[in-house]
Amino acid sequence: MASTQTAKAVERLPDNALADSIAILDFGSQYSQLIARRVREVSVYSEMLPCSTTAEELKRLNPKGIILSGGPSSVYDEGAPTLDRDIWKMDLPVLGVCYGMQLMSQHLGGTVEPADIREYGRATLTIIHHDPLFNSLDPAIESWMSHGDSVTKLPPGFEITARTMDTPVAAIANEERRLFGVQFHPEVIHTVGGQQIIKNFVIEVCQCTQSWTMDKFIDQALADIRAKAGDKRVLLALSGGVDSSTLAFLLHKALGDKLTCMFIDQGFMRKNEPEWLVETFERDFHIHVHFIKARDRFIEKLAGVTDPEEKRKKIGTEFIRVFEHESKRLGPFDYLAQGTLYPDVIESAGTKVDPKTGERVAVKIKSHHNVGGLPEDLQFKLIEPFSKLFKDEVRKVALELGVPEGIRVRHPFPGPGLAIRVLGEVTKERLKTLREADWIIREEIKSHKLYRQVWQIFGVLLPTKSVGVMGDQRTYQNQIVIRAVTSEDGMTADWARLPYDLLDTISRRIVNEVPGVNRVVYDITSKPPATIEWE
Ligand code: XMP
Repeated sequence: MASTQTAKAVERLPDNALADSIAILDFGSQYSQLIARRVREVSVYSEMLPCSTTAEELKRLNPKGIILSGGPSSVYDEGAPTLDRDIWKMDLPVLGVCYGMQLMSQHLGGTVEPADIREYGRATLTIIHHDPLFNSLDPAIESWMSHGDSVTKLPPGFEITARTMDTPVAAIANEERRLFGVQFHPEVIHTVGGQQIIKNFVIEVCQCTQSWTMDKFIDQALADIRAKAGDKRVLLALSGGVDSSTLAFLLHKALGDKLTCMFIDQGFMRKNEPEWLVETFERDFHIHVHFIKARDRFIEKLAGVTDPEEKRKKIGTEFIRVFEHESKRLGPFDYLAQGTLYPDVIESAGTKVDPKTGERVAVKIKSHHNVGGLPEDLQFKLIEPFSKLFKDEVRKVALELGVPEGIRVRHPFPGPGLAIRVLGEVTKERLKTLREADWIIREEIKSHKLYRQVWQIFGVLLPTKSVGVMGDQRTYQNQIVIRAVTSEDGMTADWARLPYDLLDTISRRIVNEVPGVNRVVYDITSKPPATIEWE
């Protein structure tokens, strides 16, 4: 993401949120986005920027403080990411995390060297000096470490504020200049009190007001949407997921019947879901949805296809064909609305900027990762009101807007749907088998009140058959896998330790109620090394 683009985007943010924001300079750590989320959790707006952002660019953004993220490099590596040294002259509070602390030390006259003992994982942190960063914390806390280098000589004006058994310089501070460094990762949940440390920096040190709230966001987003597209026609392709559904609510509130929602039923949704979705929108919320029946054409395209990537491609291509046809039929439209989220923008690959207008143009449809792209003559200008939000913030927006709970807390569901959970060839019959088993799994997890405790739970139909015995007869039938995981963001996941009696009920019900299934197994692999989905 180019920082000039970011500056443009920031101008659109609510004034009260903009007044107080924290800039996070990203040095490539896998946890950088977590820092941004943790800052937002204390109701302060945060923006992630590339570490190449200059002091001049930062001045335009006017943050009240800066956090330097961790990163995989060593500050002494050739070509290691660095920082515009003029940033140190901005007189802003800075918190350096891991690599960020090492860079701060190196730039300001300290020394960083390979550590005698590398520290990875949990380490007890002893706080030697309770500076503002460590307010309200116990004298010793569990912290999460991940570093090969250590600060061995402090920059002038700094003191050591915490240590661990293996790292004598685990936190540093120059209170007068409001510069702080922590070798551990306060953004990771394994650091006990880590959120308090972030809060202390943002509120106590940077003196930010806690003005980033979703009700204010909604007011501003409604005004922005009306200003941009008040009298224009906007198309939204609903997927049934929380992002596009919440967007439909927001856009409908802003634009009324200038918004056209369409739902393409590919035939890969869960039992009753398409009907439920459209009915809920229409009956309960008076948002009309064009229901596009396309089941037959999708299943025809998958005849004989067993390769997972080919499956995805065929579904994606067909989706584009239907989308193209229907948007022409229902159009013309001035804008396409998408539920693009902040992490999508940070990692953006599927969009480009129109050089004439500076607006983002869709070359991919977001909810279907794997489509080849929209045809040249069918490129839309985009409305993406959530492009500054994290997923948990969208859920809060959904709550404020009255989006039904059934949609708000819905587990993530892949664009190609059940087609990638019927392993091997997808046929109507095999889809039906999986759909029925999946329905039972969902009914049971909900009745055991564990639905919200897991990140995803679903069934997978295997392409093999196994021997069983039912009554006096031997059978040779299908197997269903139960896949249930816990996760924070889907990037890593652990298999859910579901109670045996729940697994037992699911297994008995599937074998008794779903024709053609004689065996149920439970997937006990975490991600990595496995993925959440099977294809
Ligand atoms: P994996 O299987 O890679 O999944 O661990 C991580 C998350 O992404 C979802 N997923 C998809 N979503 N199209 C989507 O829209 C896809 O092709 C796709 N594949 C995986 C998956 O359900 C999980 O939440």
